[in-house]
Amino acid sequence: MHKTAVPPSTEPDKDHSINDSSDSHSQIPRRDFIKRTSLALAGSAAASSMLLPTRRAVAAGPTEITFASAKFFGKQTIADIAESYNKAQDKVRVMYKELPPPSSSTEVHQQLVQQLARRNGEPDVFTQDIIWIAEFADAKWALPLDEYFNSDAMKDYFPGMVQACTWQGKLTALPWFVDSGMLYYRKDLLADLNARAPETWDELIDAAKQLTSSGKSKLGFLWQAKQAEVLVCDLVSFIGSNGGSILEPDGKTVRIAEEPAVEAVQLMHDLIRKYKVSPEDVLSWDEEPSRRPFTGGDAVFLRNWSYVWKVAQNESESSVANKVGVAPLPHFPGKKSAAALGGYQYGVNAHSKNREAAIDFVRWMSSPETQLQFALQLGLCPTRPSVLADPKVGQEQPFMRQLKDVFVGAIPRPVTPKYPQVTLVLQSQISRALTTGEVKAELAAAKAKIQTIVAA
Ligand code: GLC
Repeated sequence: MHKTAVPPSTEPDKDHSINDSSDSHSQIPRRDFIKRTSLALAGSAAASSMLLPTRRAVAAGPTEITFASAKFFGKQTIADIAESYNKAQDKVRVMYKELPPPSSSTEVHQQLVQQLARRNGEPDVFTQDIIWIAEFADAKWALPLDEYFNSDAMKDYFPGMVQACTWQGKLTALPWFVDSGMLYYRKDLLADLNARAPETWDELIDAAKQLTSSGKSKLGFLWQAKQAEVLVCDLVSFIGSNGGSILEPDGKTVRIAEEPAVEAVQLMHDLIRKYKVSPEDVLSWDEEPSRRPFTGGDAVFLRNWSYVWKVAQNESESSVANKVGVAPLPHFPGKKSAAALGGYQYGVNAHSKNREAAIDFVRWMSSPETQLQFALQLGLCPTRPSVLADPKVGQEQPFMRQLKDVFVGAIPRPVTPKYPQVTLVLQSQISRALTTGEVKAELAAAKAKIQTIVAA
């Protein structure tokens, strides 16, 4: 049994992680707050001394809108990008409210739901994980955007993204960035074996076993099995790589207890317990704890999102810079590689009192120019093919072009307004299957629970 030398840390990765676990805090700079407050005071004082209606004083300034998003950052933060919008025009002023990072998916979701359910128009604009689009649309919290972005305008995005942003025929989210799971591997270690990046799980197991038993690598394959959203992402790719699925696109037919899924979850279990190529620690790891031993030079393979690419290449952060390759995740014999579709998209609050301003802001945020900034400054893969084709993206993030098919072909997690309940069932039943080894029984239980949820 391999135990990692790097214990899962709760310390946030300050420099890079878009999936870290640091605290959220508001991003409104203090000086701006003071400036705005004093302006407002001056405005109302002037208004009352001149006996002007206050509404006129307010109407003269920019329309203020609030924008809530999970925390992402690289060379720049979302607050920086929102500030560029504020500087670029004077009609709208965005106040940014930072939520927890995307790896704390449940917490981000909870905070957004609490705000949106009040139906008071706050926040005017939000970003939503791809898995909440159906729920927010069904609850009528997300404004349908078709009248602002017609089908011609939407032709400039990857069709799969437009589909993911559409619920029951209405566009209720505007594409921001796409992410997908991928396989990071050590080029130098595989070269020692004269091996290429593994295409099947058997090849991965074989290479990991050889390299760990010869002492060339401490650990084999790292992934994420913490009882959290990322476990469902990993699950989707294992099941998909065996030709199976969790829930049919009809949103009703549950396939989690069928043979391809059972075999896939058995493999997840066996990687840890039978083949022993994944350390037991994966059971408590989400993105960052699994990433650290890999960029620390202790493992051959890692499943993770695209943010790892930049971290791995950065010498101050990684002891394996220039030694890391990226490939599609492996598959079962005769089947195809599969990746879980991730990423966040923009939503406009259906109750926003500043609808036009909110639309102006999301239009700018999703524009080719801003998507290019997100790709170059924050490492977020564009949802516009024209931006992905920009040579600057090729230079800065070469793997994005190389893995274009992985991004474009990624498989969505179950698409249903009940997703928050479905994911909790999956997280707990799969965790139990991995620790007890009772794969069939746990998947049968998952099927029964999910059927009840989606039938309600
Ligand atoms: C990434 C994905 C997101 C997913 C999350 C899980 O941030 O973009 O879709 O839910 O990871 O941790």
